[in-house]
Amino acid sequence: MKKAKIAIIGGTGFEKLFNDAKQTRVGTPYGVPPPIALGKIGEKTVAFLPRHGPEHSVPPHKVNYKANIYALHTLGVERIIAVNAVGAINTAFKPGDIVIPHDFADFTKFRSTTFYDDAPVTHVDFSQPYCPEIRRTFIECAEKLGLHLWNRGVLVCTEGPRFETPAEIEMFRRLGFDIVGMTGIPEAVLARELEMCYAALCFVSNMAAGMQERLTPKEVLDISETVQPKIEQILIETVRVLPVERKGRCPCANALKDSRIK
Ligand code: HPA
Repeated sequence: MKKAKIAIIGGTGFEKLFNDAKQTRVGTPYGVPPPIALGKIGEKTVAFLPRHGPEHSVPPHKVNYKANIYALHTLGVERIIAVNAVGAINTAFKPGDIVIPHDFADFTKFRSTTFYDDAPVTHVDFSQPYCPEIRRTFIECAEKLGLHLWNRGVLVCTEGPRFETPAEIEMFRRLGFDIVGMTGIPEAVLARELEMCYAALCFVSNMAAGMQERLTPKEVLDISETVQPKIEQILIETVRVLPVERKGRCPCANALKDSRIK
């Protein structure tokens, strides 16, 4: 099977970043994820996984996150770059902005969020929830490209598929959260549990509930098309700049070290 060290998880449409992409199907103990495209960005082979399936038919609460992350691990992936649409809670952020979250809060309800349901009991450290090396690379690449992004933010992940109520958003604002989405968790958790680096490029598709008149998925789609070129530029440059080998400058590659009582 062809291997890749870097993966991009996003909506549909990123396949066109690749030269000669080939689709592959990977079975896992957790089920079969959507077809994964393997192709080249510059010199590097990159895997692309459309989180919601090739036809965008899987809602956020039904995404098989465990199969997706496990399949990437099977392909040899060590670093995952996630692209997520989010609503802005922080009023400094506006639709079309890009935010690199540095922390998250998990408000999902029914998702399986661990590979470690059995012994040995495993508690993975999340003091640095996103890979600091990928985050730094995003920020440096955007700067080099002259593109604005917000280099910090707390993401809250909700269960969906409905959008939040104004009261929920007001609660999240008081708790200090900046952006809200439905797909960031458990992806980030599962990746760390398999010692893979993971960071997210979030684009603001709307102001969160209660901060604009109403919310529609069409708006999310429209904004995603507008910001896509910006995101693509950052992705291409980030993949180019990231070193082939991880050199232990982040907590991700050794996440399981010291995570078990016995
Ligand atoms: N809430 C949750 N998820 C989202 C939103 C939102 O406002 N916008 C895009 N994804």
